[in-house]
Amino acid sequence: MSQLKLSNADYDTFRHMLEDACGIVLGENKHYLVTSRLNRLSEELSYPGLADMLADLKKGSNLRLKERVIDAMTTNETSWFRDRYPFEMLTKSLLPEFAKEKVNPLRIWSAASSTGQEAYSISMTMQEHKQKNPGAFPGRLEIVGTDISPTVVKAARDGKYDELSIVRGLTDERKTKFFTDNKDGGWTVKPEVKMGIRFTELNLMNNYTSLGKFDIIFCRNVLIYFSSEMKTDILSRMAQILKPGGYLFLGGSESPTGYCKAYEMVRFPEGVVYRLKEDWKNYI
Ligand SMILES: C[S@@+](CC[C@H](N)C(=O)[O-])C[C@H]1O[C@@H](n2cnc3c(N)ncnc32)[C@H](O)[C@@H]1O
Repeated sequence: MSQLKLSNADYDTFRHMLEDACGIVLGENKHYLVTSRLNRLSEELSYPGLADMLADLKKGSNLRLKERVIDAMTTNETSWFRDRYPFEMLTKSLLPEFAKEKVNPLRIWSAASSTGQEAYSISMTMQEHKQKNPGAFPGRLEIVGTDISPTVVKAARDGKYDELSIVRGLTDERKTKFFTDNKDGGWTVKPEVKMGIRFTELNLMNNYTSLGKFDIIFCRNVLIYFSSEMKTDILSRMAQILKPGGYLFLGGSESPTGYCKAYEMVRFPEGVVYRLKEDWKNYI
């Protein structure tokens, strides 16, 4: 089927719709990317053409289509122990601090968890920490993984990975220790790594107070897609569900500077993290 071009007017309507639905801001120059992804989806869903799919989308009543479009436009790129330092900081600096304060349970939110690698990497880090330092962290770990995309949330819950995704960031030692070989090229996360983790759908534009309070939030490699106003809004609302002195991990190219003053930058030997200021309420 030939690839249809989006008119400038349709492109503008589409990008406003996408920003309203999930906060993702598309620049003026993403015309080609949007056109090719939407054409692929309209073919897959057997629409006669792109215009018919967009017309259906505009009506707003086809929620499944809206989900599929958001899925097609989001980047779910992730890997095991991504950037390494957050997990090293967790084991070397943060877990000893939380153990001293007798925090129990330790609650961690993976706020754009994609297919689950981040949340499972946190769980593996905790398992290794407990094995290397018996009794040092007697508390329980509770991890909540959330994402806007039902497809990736389901994949995270299943915890099954093919050979291509399993090798991204995972050593052979960790692979054999924390995964079961399905003997079909795939690997499944072992139940002891899954224990204490819950994955659920959540749009970061919506309310998240129902998740409860957290000691640590991982919100990595998602803020980059949002407008300045949305970054401020999300960072301020995260401040409200962090416990006093709680920590926020952002992606390598993300920072609260210029968006929300409720956090202070803290340097540990392993890298940089953001801590909720004592007087954070003055800044939101
Ligand atoms: C690039 S991945 C980051 C995954 C992981 N945090 C990491 O750093 O490896 C970004 C994720 O953000 C999710 N996302 C995009 N917009 C969102 C929104 N409005 N609410 C919740 N999740 C969103 C996407 O579905 C995608 O899985």
